[in-house]
Amino acid sequence: MQRTPIGVFDSGYGGLTVLSAIREQLPQYDFIYFGDNARAPYGNRSFDVVYEFTLEAVNFLFEQGCPLVILACNTASAKALRTIQQKDLPKISQTNRVLGVIRPSTEVLGELTHSKHVGILGTQGTINSNSYPIELSKFAPDIKVHQHACPMWVPLIENQQYEHPAGKQFILEDVQQLLSSNASIDTILLACTHYPVLQAHLQQLVGPDIKIVPQGPIVAEKLDIYLKAHPEMEQRLSKNAEVRFFTSETTAVFDQKASHFFGSKVEATHHSF
Ligand code: DGL
Repeated sequence: MQRTPIGVFDSGYGGLTVLSAIREQLPQYDFIYFGDNARAPYGNRSFDVVYEFTLEAVNFLFEQGCPLVILACNTASAKALRTIQQKDLPKISQTNRVLGVIRPSTEVLGELTHSKHVGILGTQGTINSNSYPIELSKFAPDIKVHQHACPMWVPLIENQQYEHPAGKQFILEDVQQLLSSNASIDTILLACTHYPVLQAHLQQLVGPDIKIVPQGPIVAEKLDIYLKAHPEMEQRLSKNAEVRFFTSETTAVFDQKASHFFGSKVEATHHSF
């Protein structure tokens, strides 16, 4: 059987923070990343549109040969994953799989908080979907979830304006609004894969007593466990430690910005639908 890469998808650059963490944990595997940058952000788009765009991306990664696709995007995981898994996948392939980032995060959040009060920062779409409180109630029903949507953060991050005074002011106000909703919050999940770029700045804003939790290492750890539990999938994956990148945006723009998220040089190929 021909072995092929793992597919990783995000609306834009954010999934690169997840891919980077996955490669630290699982450096031997090959990956194909697709960023739908030309149509990002997804955060304020309707269920139907996010589902349609995500399904196109999944099909593209399947066509590239990927038997396993990770939706490294909370908005897509919240709005499209279940429909794709239940309705589309049985028609497309009996053996390919699509996984998201919400379930792995909610599986571990209960272990990270002492106060049992967790803050969730995400896009409007992720927060409105209520996916986090719903999933968390299954794994840690005693935890109180405090959610806050940050609609400006993805555009600020994609356009690298988060260090400008106006950008910093938006970020500060959102963090203050979340923290003022409950004084006992001791853990904040960055429930958008773009947000780890702000991690150091956020940690400074909240001080040392509150944990800021990015998803990349959690998703990487859970993927490792998944592959060990599913040898039939693991045996289909190629292992040359290579990554290829595709973007629906102009490649020169993608390459320049993506390296900032990924941590090393990126050279992408253009793909649009
Ligand atoms: N990285 C995506 C997420 O995790 C960003 C969504 C967007 O494009 O607004 O939700």
